[in-house]
Amino acid sequence: MTATTKIGIGTSLSRVDGAEKVTGKAKYAAEYNVPGLLYGVTVSARIAKGRITHLEENAARAVPGVVDIVSHLNRPKQAWLDHSWKDELGIPGEPFKAFHDDRILFAGQPIAVVIAETFEAARFAASLVEVAYEEEPHNIDFTASLAEKFTPSYFKRRNTYHPPKKRGDPDTAFANATLKLEAEYHLATEHHNPMEMHASTVEWHGDGSITVYDKIQGSQGDQAYLASAFGLGKKNVRVVNAYVGGGFGSGLRPQWQVQVAVMAAIHLERSVRVVMTRAQMFTHVHRPECTYSIRLGAEHTGKLSAMINDATTSTSRFENNMEDIVVWGMMNYDCPNASGEYTIAPRDTYTSADMRAPGAATGMTLFEIAIDEMAYKAKVDPLEFRLINYSEVDSMNETPFTSKALREAYREGAERFGWEKRSPQPRSMREGRELIGWGVATGMWDAQFSKTAARAVLTADGRLEVASATSDIGTGTYTVMTLVAADTLGLAPEQITARLGDSDLPTAPVEGGSWAAASTGAAVQLACQSVAKRLLKAAEKMEDKPLHGAKSIDDLVFADGAMALKSDPSRRVAITEVMTAAGLDRIEVEETASPGIGGMISMAQKSRNTHSAIFCEVRVDEELNQVRVTRVVSAVAAGRIINPKTARSQILGGVVMGIGMALHEETFADKALGRWMNHNYAEYHVPAHADIEDIDVIFVDEPDPEVTPLGVKGLGEIGIVGTAAAVANAIYHATGKRVRQLPVTIDKLL
Ligand code: MOS
Repeated sequence: MTATTKIGIGTSLSRVDGAEKVTGKAKYAAEYNVPGLLYGVTVSARIAKGRITHLEENAARAVPGVVDIVSHLNRPKQAWLDHSWKDELGIPGEPFKAFHDDRILFAGQPIAVVIAETFEAARFAASLVEVAYEEEPHNIDFTASLAEKFTPSYFKRRNTYHPPKKRGDPDTAFANATLKLEAEYHLATEHHNPMEMHASTVEWHGDGSITVYDKIQGSQGDQAYLASAFGLGKKNVRVVNAYVGGGFGSGLRPQWQVQVAVMAAIHLERSVRVVMTRAQMFTHVHRPECTYSIRLGAEHTGKLSAMINDATTSTSRFENNMEDIVVWGMMNYDCPNASGEYTIAPRDTYTSADMRAPGAATGMTLFEIAIDEMAYKAKVDPLEFRLINYSEVDSMNETPFTSKALREAYREGAERFGWEKRSPQPRSMREGRELIGWGVATGMWDAQFSKTAARAVLTADGRLEVASATSDIGTGTYTVMTLVAADTLGLAPEQITARLGDSDLPTAPVEGGSWAAASTGAAVQLACQSVAKRLLKAAEKMEDKPLHGAKSIDDLVFADGAMALKSDPSRRVAITEVMTAAGLDRIEVEETASPGIGGMISMAQKSRNTHSAIFCEVRVDEELNQVRVTRVVSAVAAGRIINPKTARSQILGGVVMGIGMALHEETFADKALGRWMNHNYAEYHVPAHADIEDIDVIFVDEPDPEVTPLGVKGLGEIGIVGTAAAVANAIYHATGKRVRQLPVTIDKLL
C-alpha cells in the first residue's frame, strides 16, 4: 500500500475549533463560572486631568449585595511596590497603575471598583458613587498637541522599531526635481473594537495563588506582569486565554481591567470578575492619530528622485509610544535620495499602541496615496509608476530581501482585476448615476519570528497532542498547529489535539506581529520531528526491521498513521505498531524554535518582509457622494501558506478593516470634556455586511527557505496595509477629488 491522502501544510482545513466556537462550548474570559464569584464594576473618571478630592461611597455601600469598594484609598498594600515592572511590550515611560493614587490621567480612568454578589448590584451601586475632583487643564486634541511634539532619544532601544536611515541629498534633489508633490496626510484616531470586550475572571484558590482567565494575546507575558506588579511570584499566577474573541493588538498589553480584578481578589481574598463595557473599551489602547507630511520629487518619466517624510503620531503623557511610520516608502521604492523624520506628540489620553500592522497600516497607507498623486502628475498609470520605481532590494537598509514576489503580486492582481481595461482619466468611468473608480496600492509588513517552544505527546493509541503557550486570537493557530503536526507525523487531524492559551504550557510570546504561525509552526514541527526520530529508533529495534536502511527521518515518509521508506514505500509500519513493539506508552518531547534555526537568515543580512498589491473598485453616487467598495483584489506575497482557508480569512479580515480605515473608522475627541465622544458601535462606525461586496484573495508563489524554518512569513497584518490607500486612490479616479484625510467620509467629497 502506498500513501494516498496526506493532510498537511498547504491543505485547506476548516478551523479545528470551529464547532466549539459556533456551539458556544468555547469559553472566553468572562465565561468561567468559578464558585463564589464576585462581580466588580468600575467607576470611570469624568474628567481628563486632575485629582480626586472626595469619593462619596455611602449610597453605593448601602445597596444590598455590595461587598466592598476598592479605590486608591484602600487598595491592598502589596500592589505596585515593585516600581520596575513592565508589561511584555515595555513602552518607554511609566505604565498606568489603576488606583495608584488620586491622580487622573485620562477620561474614563478607573478610579474605584464596586464589588458585589451580583453583577446587577455592582453596576447599580457603581452608578451611585459620587466623585469630587480638582480639575486641571487638559488637551486631547491632536492638532493642539503638535506644539509639544518630540523625539525621545531612547527609541532605538526598542527592537521592533526601525529608525529611518537617510540616503543621498533629498533636499537638493527635491529642489531640482521636474515634478514635485508636497502634501499633508492624516489618519484619524481609531479604536480596535474586537468583538470580545476586555474581561478578567480571577479565581482565588485560598493558598495565595490565582488563576486568571483573561482576554489577552499572550498568557505568559500577562502572568509575568501580574506576578511582578502584585509581588505574587510566577508560580502563584496562572493565566488562561484558550479563546480570544479578536484582539487586533488591543490585547497585546494587559489592560486595566485585569489590574482591577486581581487587586479586588487580593483585597477580598475572593474570586472576582471585571468586564469592560463597550464604552470603557474606548478608555484604553487605540491606534495613534497621525499627521504625515510627504514631499516627492520625480523626473518627467515618473522616476522618483526624492522622498522626504515627516510624521507625528499621538501618545499619552505617561508613556511614549512610537511606530514605524516613515520608513515604508523608503524601503520599498528605488529612489536615490530619501529621508524620514518622526516625532510623537503627547495628549491627555491613555497611551496609544499597536493596532493591526502598527506603523505600516498608517505610514505605508498614507505614503501610497502620495505615490498615486505623483503617478498622476507624471501622467503615468499608477501601477506602471510603481513598476518604474520598483526596488529588488530594501532601498533604505541596502539589504537584499529573503524574497520579494511583489512584481508577481502586481501582475497576478492586475490580471484578476482586469486593470488593463482601466480608462486613465478621473471621472471617465460611470454607470448610471454612479462614478466608477479603480485604484491600486502596495502593502508591506515585517516577516517576523519569535522564539517559541512546543511539546508533542504521542500515545500508544496513535493520538498526538501538541501544546504551546501561544494564543489563537481568531487567526487559526489551533488549526495551524494541527496541520503542521499532521504534516510531520502523517496523522489525520482527528487524531491530533492542539492546546494553547495557558501559561503552564511551553514558553511562547504574545500572538502579535504576524509571527505566530511561522514561530509556533516551527516549534511544533521540531517537536514532531523529535517524536519521529524516537519512533525510528524504536523501529530499528523491531525484529523484522521494517524500515531497514533508513539512516534518518529524512529517509522516511510519514503518512496514513504509518512510516515508510522513501525509497521503497512498500516497506512500512504503523506508528502504533512501533509503539507496541517497543513497549512505549507515550513519547513526550519539548523543543524550542529560536531565530537562526533551519537555515533562517538574520535581519542584518537580509530584510524579511511580506508584500501585497491591492486593487480596488469603488462606485460613488454622484448626488449623495456615498461610496461603495464593490471589488477588491488583494494579491499577497507571504511565503508559504500553511492553511489556504484560514490564510484567506486573515486577508479578508484585513481588507475589511482597511475598508473601515478608508471610509468609516474615526474616534472623535470632545476637546472641552477631554473624552472620546463616539464610544459605542452606533457612532464608531466599522464596516457592516452591507459595506462588503466582492473581495478576492490571491497568494502568489513565493518559496523562501531563508525567512523562517517553514518558509512561512505570516498573514495576520499584511491584509490591512495599503488597502485604505487603494480605496482612496479609487475614489480619486472615480471623482477627481483627492482626499488626504482618512477616513474619506461623505462630507469630504462635497
Ligand atoms: Mo498585532 S497589532 O501585533 O496584535
